[in-house]
Amino acid sequence: SAAEKGGYDYFMLKEIAEQPKAVADTLLGRIDSGGSLTLDEVRIPDSVLREVDKVVVVACGTAFHAGMIAKLAIEHWTRIPCETELASEFRYRDPILDSRTLVIAISQSGETMDTLMALRHAREQGAKVLAICNTNGSTISRESDAVLYTHAGPEVAVASTKAFLTQLVACYLVALYLAQVRGSKWGDEVRGVVRELSAISGEVERVLETMEPVRELARSLAGKNTVLFLGRHVGYPVALEGALKLKELAYMHAEGFAAGELKHGPIALIEDDLPVVVVVPSPRGRSVLHDKIMSNMQEIRARGARTIVIAEEGDEAVVPYADHLIRIPATPTLLQPLVSTVPLQVFACELATARGNEVDQPRNLAKSVTVE
Ligand code: G6P
Repeated sequence: SAAEKGGYDYFMLKEIAEQPKAVADTLLGRIDSGGSLTLDEVRIPDSVLREVDKVVVVACGTAFHAGMIAKLAIEHWTRIPCETELASEFRYRDPILDSRTLVIAISQSGETMDTLMALRHAREQGAKVLAICNTNGSTISRESDAVLYTHAGPEVAVASTKAFLTQLVACYLVALYLAQVRGSKWGDEVRGVVRELSAISGEVERVLETMEPVRELARSLAGKNTVLFLGRHVGYPVALEGALKLKELAYMHAEGFAAGELKHGPIALIEDDLPVVVVVPSPRGRSVLHDKIMSNMQEIRARGARTIVIAEEGDEAVVPYADHLIRIPATPTLLQPLVSTVPLQVFACELATARGNEVDQPRNLAKSVTVE
């Protein structure tokens, strides 16, 4: 009913708007005033976490994209090797697991069969499993050694939005906690990130306040057949997530690529007026990535692409390469997905509406897939 949707036309719009609160709720009580993390619910003893020599993240769909970002955060802040794998592929390749492996299973519903089978396999091999889950008492949370709950509240729209942002928050918390327990060589950076993470929900709110031009742009592209998405580092999973949203909701051909891979094939797809969304890394931090993506933009513009550029406030260098410019607040590099994903959600939702599609219940999809 309209009341359930809180005055919004669709659950998805309501859930996009709830993201600042979902993010804040997921942080609540987990960072103390001194900047230390307390994850009491994670009942895996610190002594075990200190011995972990490999982390494997398993998940499906949108949660897999959160897992790709988790890998970058865990490896950078803790220096523990981490791989992220699609849950449906994981157990069929006889993965190497033992009691020093920490497996992180990410699932909004806690009922996804592929993810459940992956975690069962991991536990049989003696690995410890930590679930990041949004649903209390779900199968995945019951069968794991420990759970870090996301506090997104119920997510009704099939296409995941607020659950994704809270999965990212939970992944950052786990990565930062591991760094804290093990004593990270990036101590200062980690402390700075904890501070910025505590304040990030206000930045998500600021993004939501500036989305009207994104909706306008989406409507103007309703007649297109294809949209491509490019990113590097954390921007790559964000590009994949932007493309997934567009497939799910707008039924358009949408693909995400690592921008550096463009020249190895996908650049052949570029033609006149093709919309290409480019997620630009912060020019501070790892500025070499920023330079590289600038040349990627140059290459596709030279071949006629219409660039839709998502870039940090104050990044003036992108202006000459942007046919459309979407601004996001400056954040530490690894946290950028919390703000850069939001315009892509709004973009896909508005495009779907403009194409007359059912936003909350896209064709052929289920909110949670309980078969393998
Ligand atoms: C389904 C949904 C996706 C979701 C995926 C994983 O395919 O349509 O939106 O990302 O399952 O769901 P989970 O509940 O495990 O996060």
